[in-house]
Amino acid sequence: STPTARELLGIAVEVAREAADTAARMRAEGVSVAATKSTATDVVTAADRAVERQVVAALRAARPGDVVYGEEYGGAEAGADGVRWIVDPIDGTVNYLYGLPYCAVSLAAEVDGRVVAGVVRNVATGEEWTATAGGGAWRDGQRLRCSTETELGQALVATGFGYDAGRRRHQARVVAELIGDVRDIRRMGAAALDLCLAAEGRLDAYYEKGLAAWDLAAGGLVAEEAGLRVTGLNGRPAGPDLVIAAPPALFAPLHTRLAALDASGGP
Ligand code: IPD
Repeated sequence: STPTARELLGIAVEVAREAADTAARMRAEGVSVAATKSTATDVVTAADRAVERQVVAALRAARPGDVVYGEEYGGAEAGADGVRWIVDPIDGTVNYLYGLPYCAVSLAAEVDGRVVAGVVRNVATGEEWTATAGGGAWRDGQRLRCSTETELGQALVATGFGYDAGRRRHQARVVAELIGDVRDIRRMGAAALDLCLAAEGRLDAYYEKGLAAWDLAAGGLVAEEAGLRVTGLNGRPAGPDLVIAAPPALFAPLHTRLAALDASGGP
């Protein structure tokens, strides 16, 4: 029988805590770049790999029949029937490498292609955000609500940059314009955490082009369950082209600006 979202969240929370402990311990022992991926700045540490292997093993032990899809080792890309787990062992790998306390384990469970449970745990601070579809977004026992800001000009907006130089330049050109229209811009370096901070109004909104499923799955559910609209451009679902996460009142003005600035364009 299909497990409930709460059952899946229970497993996710336990697995993410152990994974975050491993990441923190490996950080304390010292980290270095193990390899690069898409570009020379897209790095992997031994911890990214070890944590993902640990998560996969723990999920296989808890739920042997499920599919697991992770940043470092892949797995089934398409939404499968039944349960699929989506893992980012360390979101914010560059922060992790430099010892900046803004990196997280992100773990989500999909049922029949829809994310129903997610947890994001900050490796450095232990802060933990959770959500289930229809069950709200939570941090440390507190129900989360997104910002009630209504003016784009007063909004603190986070974004991020991909690893490809051409893409980053395009993204920076968008920021160069948008920064004149908002309170300020943040680039803190972990998409999953940006979405969680928006869920509790510590950021007003967030957008980024080029996110992968593992960056978005858990944090996107947390953001949605806290009241943000999380979509792509022109009603498309959030995905690699663009993710916009904004409270209802900010969504239209931010979407309009991002469309005009061709935020989903470029390489
Ligand atoms: C990256 C971070 C970053 C975002 C990039 C992601 P990683 O994830 O979330 O903030 O701007 O798009 O790739 O590589 O650290 O797991």
